[in-house]
Amino acid sequence: MKLAILISGRGSNLEAILRAIAEGRLEASPNLVVTNRAGAGGLDHARRHGIPTGVLSHLDFADRNAYDTALVQLLREHGVDTVALAGFDRLVTPVLLGAFPGRVLNIHPALLPAFPGLHAQRQALEYGARVTGATVHFVDEQMDHGAIIAQAAVPVLDDDSEETLAARILLEEHRLYPLALQRLARGQLRLSGRRVIGGDP
Ligand code: GAR
Repeated sequence: MKLAILISGRGSNLEAILRAIAEGRLEASPNLVVTNRAGAGGLDHARRHGIPTGVLSHLDFADRNAYDTALVQLLREHGVDTVALAGFDRLVTPVLLGAFPGRVLNIHPALLPAFPGLHAQRQALEYGARVTGATVHFVDEQMDHGAIIAQAAVPVLDDDSEETLAARILLEEHRLYPLALQRLARGQLRLSGRRVIGGDP
């Protein structure tokens, strides 16, 4: 599996994926890390692991289709066959999804379909949820939406802040995403229409 990881920020999920590859728990070649934000802290993880990086700023493109057309070209130039969104803060279009059918995944810090979008942990706290968690899913054109591959639940504690809850969820994100990607790498997981075959590692 020739993987590209797309990030916009700190890149802790990127780091978890790269660590899983380095430790042999994820049989994938990390061909490329792409960001839409030149200042993304996660680029340092990529450089430390010696992974090629690409910066494609969304500000340089007229619309999402133009952005994704350039993105697909970059991914193809690096021989990528699978795309993992890891804190990538742009909506993707059918241009990307059509180029890599059933091979674009995302992670989100809530039990989807609850609390999509930004600040999922704050949303869970404000709603008064007693349980939230992490979701890995195949990506479709809607934000934080698509066939669910795997989920992990975590409790919301009475004295949680957004930060303590986010940290508890993040531990599950870092565990779950490499597991899901490994099932894809092994051919144990696929998207069939809108259904997932072989999910929930
Ligand atoms: C992660 O918590 C990820 O689940 C979330 O952004 C964070 C990125 O952190 N994604 C979303 O909220 C998607 N809507 P990271 O850069 O340290 O991996």
